[in-house]
Order: sequence, then C-alpha cells, then structure tokens
Amino acid sequence: MAKINFLDLGMQPIANNFLSDKSEIDDEYKFHLTVVFDDESKLVSLSDFVPPDLMFNDSYVYHSSLSKTMRDHFKEIATSLTKEFSPKKILEIGSNDGVFLKNFNKNDAISVEPCGNFAKMTCAMGYSTYQKFWNAQLAEDIVENHGKQDLIFSANCICHIHNLEEAFESISRVMSERGTFIFEDPSLLKMMSRRSYDQIYDEHAHIFSVLALKNLLLKHSLEIFRVENLNVHGGSNRIFVCHSNSRSIEYSVQENLFREREAGLDTIDAYKRFSYDVEKSKNQLVDLLNELKRKDYKIISYGATSKSTTVFNYCEIDTSIIDYIVDTTPAKQGKLSPGMHIPVKSPEPGFDETVDYAFLGAWNYEKEIADKEKEFLKNKRFITHVPYVRFIK
Ligand code: TYD
Repeated sequence: MAKINFLDLGMQPIANNFLSDKSEIDDEYKFHLTVVFDDESKLVSLSDFVPPDLMFNDSYVYHSSLSKTMRDHFKEIATSLTKEFSPKKILEIGSNDGVFLKNFNKNDAISVEPCGNFAKMTCAMGYSTYQKFWNAQLAEDIVENHGKQDLIFSANCICHIHNLEEAFESISRVMSERGTFIFEDPSLLKMMSRRSYDQIYDEHAHIFSVLALKNLLLKHSLEIFRVENLNVHGGSNRIFVCHSNSRSIEYSVQENLFREREAGLDTIDAYKRFSYDVEKSKNQLVDLLNELKRKDYKIISYGATSKSTTVFNYCEIDTSIIDYIVDTTPAKQGKLSPGMHIPVKSPEPGFDETVDYAFLGAWNYEKEIADKEKEFLKNKRFITHVPYVRFIK
C-alpha cells in the first residue's frame, strides 16, 4: 500500500479544545498535522490520528442545534427520508444534541453518541442512547437488544472514525436486508476546489471522495446507490448506501465519480498542486492582515470554528493581529482559542462599531451571517481565504 504524504499544516492543537485560562497553556496537547493520500484505496487521511477521547468527551463544544441552517437542514432530511424509505427502526451514529433524531418517534430511534454532555440530552428526550464510540461490539449489542436497523444515519461523524474497516463492517451487520445507510461528511472535491484546507483538523481523520468510499465500502459488501452534493459545512456529500445488489445504482454515483476523476482525485498530482495553493493562500492571508494591522485597523474573527483553529495555527496568527474572536456558543465564550490563545467573546458586545475588519472563521455560514450583519457590511468588510484571499462585500 503506497501512502504519500502531501501536506504539512505544522503543529496543531485539538481544534475544539478551548482553554479556560492561560494556566492551561503549558499542558496543551499538540500534534503534527500532516496529510496522506493512499494510492491504492484513494483515501485521504491524517498521517497521525489523535486519541478519540481527547476530542470527543463530556466537554465537547460543537452544538448542531445552535445554527438555524443546521436545524432546517436536519428537519428537511429527516422528513424526506421518512417519506422515501418509511423506516421502522432508525439508528443515528453521532447524534450530538438530537437535532436529527428529534424528528422521529422515541420508541423507533436509537442514539449512539460518545460525548456525555450530548448523550444526556437524547437520553432525557426519551431515546435509547448508547454513550459509546461506534464499533463492532456496539453493533452486536444493538442487534441483540433492538434487532437490525432499517435506516442508519450519520452526519459529520463517519469521517471522525479512525478504523473505517471496522466501522463499515459493523454497519453492514446492523443494517436490515433492505436497509439504507446514509451519511454526510465534507467533500474532498469541494475542499480541493475551494482550497479550504481548514477542513483539515484533528477530528477529520479522513476527508472523503466518492472514489475512496466506493472502494472501501465494497470490501464489506456495501454499495453506494446515490450521491447528493450539499452546501452545508462548506460543501459535503450525502452518501446513500445499501447491501450490494439490493438496489439499482443511480446516475448521481457515476456523475460524481466522473467529476472526481476529472479533477484528478485518483492521482497524487492534484494533491501536490493543492499543497502548493495552500502555502500561497497562507502567504496572501498573512500579508493582507499584516498590511491592515500596519494601518492600525481593528481586526477580529467571526466564528470560533475548528476551521479557524487550523488557519490561525498554520499561519501563526495570534493576538498581535486578531484582537478577539466573536462566537454565539456560550461554551466557547470567555475562553482562549486553541493554540493561538485568542480570547473568545460573545458577539454582543464584541461585534460593535469599533471593529474595522472581521476574518470569517465560519465562512460556511456566509449567507446566514451576511443576512444578520447587514449593518456592518454597509461600510465594513469581512475577510475570507475561501476560495482565495479576498474581502466580502
Ligand atoms: P462550524 O463551522 O459549524 O464548525 P467547525 O468548523 O467547528 O466544524 O461552527 C460555526 C461556529 O460559528 C460555531 O461556533 C457558531 C459560530 N457562529 C456564530 O458565532 N455566529 C453565527 O451567526 C453563526 C452562523 C455561527
């Protein structure tokens, strides 16, 4: 198996590990964030994985329900899956605060969620909840206690799992004969074409192409029968999977495979070009921010995202450039950003008239934020690096 290293994003902290105060800096966990392409399976992964319990524990801060975009997104997909597949038994892997699951009857749906703070929430909502990481033993327990499942759903979770062989084999075992496994994760093609290298951080152990998924799933007698391209999380794919030969394969699968091959995702050359573009993006962003700072403008960041952890640590952007970050998540407010230790504040009063420029850490919510911040945009600007370094009017 030939694994080729193509990108080095330097030393990075846990992307969602916000520090309570400066006394925690000395003990902050750091790792070398480098990325490999597997020439055989076509899978893109981190070279070194971070131990899961350092990332997914009782103080996990990502909260799906806080964004209207995500609430609408999950309501819509739950409704359409119910209509199309009429599942009797539903299993969600990585159910976070129950934003998807709450659309199903609590007697029909099971939650798997390793983070204690969120597992408590689905449990309180009345769903059978397993506060565990997805693995073969858990799949076996679920089959024994609840039988096989008709709809297995997972959003922004499968790409977190280090051992995909075990994960897919376990899904194959827990899924009923005519069952469907549907999962959504960031799209490698979108990441490459948008040069959004900040999709790469500790939690994203893999960034999936349809090409790689097809190869990996096949080993477990699973087959992709539909692919939907989504706008959420900066461009994701929703992958529909069935047991091999149990459904007809739709045109969207061929089409996505074709577009990925056309973009060269099956050969190392495209990844080498991406790596070159990432370095260029870093230099341009640092130059622009330094120039604005020299002119004495006040620059803050909007959205304390995992993505901005990667950008700030890779580009070495700290409080000498960004005064603070504003974020609506209460659990992040009053803390210091991972690695660069930039203070995080509530947008009220942090996002006030003293701000001249705001780096858009949550660029994947550009529309929602632009709608909300019309007043700011009348004579001030957001800055983004996606797909290239520029101002947003
Ligand atoms: P997100 O991009 O979903 O996460 P990540 O890169 O960590 O996967 O996170 C969006 C963050 O932006 C989240 O912390 C909430 C924050 N946010 C705001 O502060 N204001 C907003 O208007 C929106 C839409 C998000």
